[in-house]
Amino acid sequence: MTEKQAGKNAYLVALQQSFQSDWEVQESLAELAELARDAGLNVIETIVQKRSYPDPGTFIGSGKALEIGEMLDEDAIVIFDDELTPAQQGNLADLMDAPVIDRTQLILDIFAQRARSNEGKIQVELAQLNYLLPRLTGQGAALSRLGGGIGTRGPGETKLETDRRRIRKRIADLRRELQKIKQTRSLQRQNRESREVPVVALVGYTNAGKSTLLQALTGSEVYVADQLFATLDPTIRRWDLTDGRWVYLTDTVGFIRKLPHTLVAAFQATLEEVVYADLLLHVIDASHPQSREQKEAVEQVLKEIGATQPLIAVYNKVDLVDHLLEVREPDQAVSAKTGYNLERLTKAVYEFFAREYTIREYFFPFNQLGKASILREQAAVLGEQFTAEGLVIKAEVDARLEMLLKPFQK
Ligand code: GTP
Repeated sequence: MTEKQAGKNAYLVALQQSFQSDWEVQESLAELAELARDAGLNVIETIVQKRSYPDPGTFIGSGKALEIGEMLDEDAIVIFDDELTPAQQGNLADLMDAPVIDRTQLILDIFAQRARSNEGKIQVELAQLNYLLPRLTGQGAALSRLGGGIGTRGPGETKLETDRRRIRKRIADLRRELQKIKQTRSLQRQNRESREVPVVALVGYTNAGKSTLLQALTGSEVYVADQLFATLDPTIRRWDLTDGRWVYLTDTVGFIRKLPHTLVAAFQATLEEVVYADLLLHVIDASHPQSREQKEAVEQVLKEIGATQPLIAVYNKVDLVDHLLEVREPDQAVSAKTGYNLERLTKAVYEFFAREYTIREYFFPFNQLGKASILREQAAVLGEQFTAEGLVIKAEVDARLEMLLKPFQK
């Protein structure tokens, strides 16, 4: 916390157009403030300017820009809640004589701080370079004023000063590298699929408690922090349900409202996990005053990326809610922190997959005995018996195993 307080002072600015309600603008600003704090900034003030439409050159109008410039202290940074055009950003920085960034750049900066895996880092750098490319001309002065702080993390100052051609080449190299990583990832995914173990994906608004839940359910060590976007890279763990049944549980990057579309694309790798999952667990922070809006924002993004599979809403942090939370089946109310109702959630997921289970008898001749291990690994084995020719196994299998082992069915 002290480190954060020692950070730069930030002034947040939003434009309220005639079609926007006060509430809507305040909500968005509250989220921007949360993001700014998460980036280590000290939020001093939020400013709302009402206009019927944005000024093409200065977004909020030059008079207002000068007025804000007057009130800034020495080391301040100004953050706009909406995406600015490169020209607007340059003009505003000149008028205010301070570094000016927008929501997209702030999010990119947080992503850059959080990226851990090679893939995550490449994706962030790609998104940053794509964002910076059109902003290079006339922006050099404003950007270098940031002095390696917010808004310049990642590509670094020297890269910002190189010409567009070098940046384009870097973008091409990164894309190739990313392609290679993606191929390996899809190979891994194929492996998972051919092993026919279901995949359950945790999705949810940032800070809802997905990493904590993954850890609580699978007992694995995952990076958890009380910071937005702690999870930038997909993590996948084995989750033991019951009776020897298990599934893969995977974490995804947290959603936020107004996540710029360019960034959704940049983080598609984490969202891809969502698209091919068999079941989604939508983790909702039940203690958050805006939990309903957050839930809707996530549902909207899920729709956009074409995730239409079955979903269980998991209301988390119920230890912080003082009234009894009533949820409809199959939805769940849990606390990842205290472990409350986690067994019930595990059972619900078991039952979700159990609906597909059927009892079958298989025969494996001695020369193909190895195939029997698939059943021992993934099905509930009800009985085994050796005969003169091979092995007979009775087991409860799901639809996919049934398909896979059809040739051995008795
Ligand atoms: P992103 O990676 O930003 O998407 O966040 P996340 O959804 O993975 O959240 P994370 O697991 O990092 O948890 C965020 C904060 O909420 C941490 O401080 C957790 O300790 C806290 N938290 C998670 N679950 C619970 C819970 O059930 N109760 C309480 N009181 N706090 C919780």
